[in-house]
Amino acid sequence: MIPDEVVEQVRDSADIVQIVGEYVNLKRQGTDFRGPCPFHQGTHRNFSVSPKKRMYYCFVCHEGGDVFHFLQKRLGVEWPAAVKMVGEKSGIEVREVDTRREGPDPREPLWEVNATAAGYFQKILWDDPLGAQARDYLTQRDISREVADQFNIGFAPREIGLLRNYMGTLGFDETRMAAAGLLIQGEDGSEPRPRFRGRLMFPILDSMGRNIGFGGRILGQGEPKYLNSPESPVFSKGKTLYGLNWAKNDIRREDQVLVVEGYFDVVRLMAAGATTVVAAMGTALTDAQAAALRKLTKNVFLLYDSDKAGLQATFRSGDELLRQGVSVRVVTLPEGDDPDTFVKAHGAAALTARLRDAIDVFERKIQLLERAGMFGELHKKRRALDRLLPTLRATADEIMRDLYLSRASEVSGVAREVLEREMRGKATPAISVSSPPPAPRISPALRARRGERRVQRSERGDSAEREIIRAILLNRSRLEQIAEKLGAQSLRDPQYRAIYRALIAADPDSTIEEVTANLDEDTIATVEDLLAEGAIQMDPERTISDSFATLRARDLDRRAEELDRIIPLADGAEKDKLIAEKKEIGKELETTGKRYFKKFRRTGAR
Ligand code: CTP
Ligand code: MN
Repeated sequence: MIPDEVVEQVRDSADIVQIVGEYVNLKRQGTDFRGPCPFHQGTHRNFSVSPKKRMYYCFVCHEGGDVFHFLQKRLGVEWPAAVKMVGEKSGIEVREVDTRREGPDPREPLWEVNATAAGYFQKILWDDPLGAQARDYLTQRDISREVADQFNIGFAPREIGLLRNYMGTLGFDETRMAAAGLLIQGEDGSEPRPRFRGRLMFPILDSMGRNIGFGGRILGQGEPKYLNSPESPVFSKGKTLYGLNWAKNDIRREDQVLVVEGYFDVVRLMAAGATTVVAAMGTALTDAQAAALRKLTKNVFLLYDSDKAGLQATFRSGDELLRQGVSVRVVTLPEGDDPDTFVKAHGAAALTARLRDAIDVFERKIQLLERAGMFGELHKKRRALDRLLPTLRATADEIMRDLYLSRASEVSGVAREVLEREMRGKATPAISVSSPPPAPRISPALRARRGERRVQRSERGDSAEREIIRAILLNRSRLEQIAEKLGAQSLRDPQYRAIYRALIAADPDSTIEEVTANLDEDTIATVEDLLAEGAIQMDPERTISDSFATLRARDLDRRAEELDRIIPLADGAEKDKLIAEKKEIGKELETTGKRYFKKFRRTGAR
C-alpha cells in the first residue's frame, strides 16, 4: 500500500488542470476550467475542473473525482498506478510499503502447480498427437489458435499417468497436485487419477492473473459437460469471475460490464473486441461476485440464456447487484442463441445494438409477469407483487427504489403507500418467488468450514448413501427401480437427499445440468465430485443391494431405538404390538443387517 501522507502530498502538488488537460480541451471559466466531457463523449463544455478543490465533475453524466480517479477512469489503470503516474509528473517518489506478513504467500505453491499444468495442457493441445481431437473441436467451434492461446486453452489427455509423470520430472509431488485438485488420490493405495481427462481446459485466473483452477469441457457429448477444479485454498467458484483479469481495466474505462454464463462466451466476445466481459461460470452471481463488479462499475448488463434456468439466474443476480447499489440491465438474445453463438454469427456490432435495447432488470420482471397475465386477475396480482417485492427490498439505491415503487404501483394499480408499507414491513432477506431460494449467505470462514466438512465427509463418508446416488448419476435408468424402495427421508445426508429429490423430480431425459439447476453450489460440487470419480462402479448391482441393506438396517435400528423409548410408556394390546414389532426388527437385523446392527449397538449403547 501507499502511505496516506504520500498520497496527500502527491494530490496536493499535482496540477490537475494540466493532467486532465492532456485528455480534454479545457478553457478557463472563472476560477474553474471547462471542456467537453470525455466520459459521456459530450460536445458542450459541461465538464468542469476545479484547481482549488482539486476535483473534476461533469454536470451531465455526474462523473467526478480527484486526479487519481480521473486517470483510473480514463486509462483503466489501478489506483496505485494512477498515484504513481501523478507522482512522477510532480517528481515525488511513490513507493508501496509492504504490509504483508513475512514470507511468501502460502498459496503460491498451488498457483504454481496450476500454472505449470496449464502449460502442459497447452503443449498437449498443440504439439501432441493426443491433442488432435481437441484441435478439431476448436476448429469446429471456430476458435483460432491465436484466440485459444490468448486464453491459454489446453487439453487434458485421457491417459492416467501422463500429467503425473510430466509434473514429477519438474519436481511437483502428488500431494501438491492433489491439493490443487489436479489429481484424485486413490483410496486403498490405488493409482492416483487425474481429475480432468479428455477435456478442453480453460485455466481460471483470479483478478491478479494467478492460476487458481480450471474449467474442463468434455469434447462432444457427455456428463458433466463442464468440470471445474474443486474448492481449495486458492479456488472458490462463488468468488471468482472468469475473465476478470483480462477485462477489469476495460470495465473501469468503459464503465460497464457484460455478465455472461460461460467460458466460450467470454472467449468469443473478447476475441471479437467486446472486452468488458466476465462469466459467472454457469450460476447466478453471488454477493461476493456482485461486490467485486461494483468496485469497477455501476453499469451491469446481464446476458444469461432466456430459458427458465437463465431467467432465474438473471433475477437472482439482479437482486444481488441491486443490493450493491448497481444499475442492472438485461440483454435478450434471439431464442436459442447465447452470446457465443450470437457474436459468432452476427459479430460484435450486433451485440452492441442489443446492449442499446437492454432493459432494466425490474422492468424486465414486470414485462414477463405482464406477458403471463399476472396483472390481469386479482388473485394473480397478489402473486405478481410477491415477486416484485423482494427486488424492491433488495434495491439499495434509494432513488432507484423510489422509481421502482412508482412503477410497481402503476402496473398493479395498488397504491404506492400500500406497497411501500408492505415493502418495509417484512425485513426478510430478498427471496424472489420466481427464483429458487438463494444459498444462505455465509461468512467466508463458515464457507471454508463447509468446504472442509464436504471433504471430510467424502473421506469418511456415508458410503451407502453415496454409492446409491453415484449409481443413479452414472446410470439414470436405475432411478425408477431404486425410488420404489427408497424414500428420500431415508437419506440422512442433506446433500445426498437434495440430489436424490432433484433426480426424482427431474424429467428422465433431462441433462445433469437441468437436474442440478436449483441445487446450491456445494451440492452441485458434490455431484461433480461423484461424477469425477470415474465412470466405472465395480459391480453396480451388488453395490446397490449392499447399500440398500445398510440403509434398511439403519432405518430398522432407528425404529428399534424409538421402540425402546415408547414401549415402557404403552400398555395393554398396544404394548404387545410394539413388542412384537421390536422382535421382528431384531430378527431381520440378525439375518440381514447383522454387521451394521452389532457395530451400531456397541457404539450406540454408551
Ligand atoms: N458450467 C459449469 N459446470 C457445468 C455446466 C456449466 O461450471 N456442469 C458453467 C461453465 O462455466 C459453462 C457455463 O456454466 O461455460 C455455461 O454452461 P452451458 O450453458 O451449459 O454451456 P456453454 O457455455 O453454452 O457451453 P458450450 O458452448 O461449450 O456448449
Ligand atoms: Mn454455448
